[in-house]
Amino acid sequence: MSAAESTDESIPRLPFDQSGLMELPPRFAELRENDPIVKVLTPVGDPAWLVTRHEDVKKLISDARLGRSHFDPPNAPRYSAAVILGGPRGEYETEVVDHTKARQVLIPSFSAQRMRSLRPRIQRTVDELLSRFQELPQPADFHQEIAKRLPVFVISELLGIPFADREQLGTWSQGTFHTSDQQLAVTAMLEMREYIAKFIELKRAEPADDVITDLVLKQQETGFPPDDAIQTYVSTLIIAGFETSVSFTDYGTLLFLRNPDQRALLEADPGLAPRAVEEILRFAPASDACITRYARTDFEYKGTRISEGDLIALSPQTANRDPRVFREPERFDITRNENPHMTLAYGLHYCIGAPLVRVMLDVLYQTLFARLPGLRLAVPIDELVSRNNVLTGGLTSLPVAW
Ligand code: HEM
Repeated sequence: MSAAESTDESIPRLPFDQSGLMELPPRFAELRENDPIVKVLTPVGDPAWLVTRHEDVKKLISDARLGRSHFDPPNAPRYSAAVILGGPRGEYETEVVDHTKARQVLIPSFSAQRMRSLRPRIQRTVDELLSRFQELPQPADFHQEIAKRLPVFVISELLGIPFADREQLGTWSQGTFHTSDQQLAVTAMLEMREYIAKFIELKRAEPADDVITDLVLKQQETGFPPDDAIQTYVSTLIIAGFETSVSFTDYGTLLFLRNPDQRALLEADPGLAPRAVEEILRFAPASDACITRYARTDFEYKGTRISEGDLIALSPQTANRDPRVFREPERFDITRNENPHMTLAYGLHYCIGAPLVRVMLDVLYQTLFARLPGLRLAVPIDELVSRNNVLTGGLTSLPVAW
């Protein structure tokens, strides 16, 4: 029987119970050991195959037999009610071609040279945010003042969006990820597209060194991408980049505050920051949401028969703690040499913003504890609350003192 045909009420249902803010729900690890490809119900009650081992997540995440679109979108099984990422995306017939074109157009905008030129501007942003933060009465909210602002500022800088509009963009981006209020998500998306449309005109008139200009110039040279595709690409970058980065900025800081030995290592040798960033990405339980795919054909995978249209839920967080791949996987260890985590995906769909995430977190963690050596959590950990209504998770606030 395929996942889509199942009516069995005994099958596990996501989300699984979490034992603490810093842990992944233990059920994930149990399944990884005993039932690595298992039928589950998604948070909205639809059937899916949950995949938890590193080897399988890595294979299936870039398997060409899987895609993000569905042949019957209104009746496709959904992961959540969220407008973005909750269900199928893209056109079934043209998904592969569309996806390839999008990557070809976007990847050059994240070149090593662009990242090098952004680094001093990111450093300036981090310095300014921290200077302002230090002036605030204590305790102050790291989430509100730093984690919510840094990615929005950095991604806006990359895109070429003016300073004054950045907070608004952050609000739209958070709105699009809302899992319970669909109207809010749709309105946020439409308003953001309208805003980007105006911006395309502006960049045509006044080109600069930014991603929207790159896309406009590409259009002038080759006729592709048309304006509506530019709107889609830019909103995708905002949506894919903002909220994910906010969550990891919160959790990265929290991980250091909860692991003084690792913080001491970083303070003694800021050169460890790049490895620390990989470990934050591997270990932070920022969200337990899965990466979703739909089968584009019937096939068998390790004895499980998958049918065309079935939903497959890949858990990078559980794969990231697979003892078959990571030594002492439940330990936050910023000195790890090998860290092939799945947080930024792999292969065909590897996160396009990965170089930017790395520079941004690297600059932040090379700077944060040097500027605020007394930084500490200002409330007991069990008073922190996760953002359950946002697909990318994260914290509602992170009160700290210094
Ligand atoms: C810590 C922050 C981030 C995390 C954890 C993250 C994670 C991911 C993951 C897991 C995927 C693959 C999704 C899938 O296969 O369905 C992805 C794709 C993508 N990410 Fe990120 N991302 C982050 C930041 C960013 C940033 C800052 C940007 C851009 C400004 C960005 C742009 C993209 C784009 C455009 C894709 C689509 C790639 C494709 O479809 O081939 N991401 N990201």
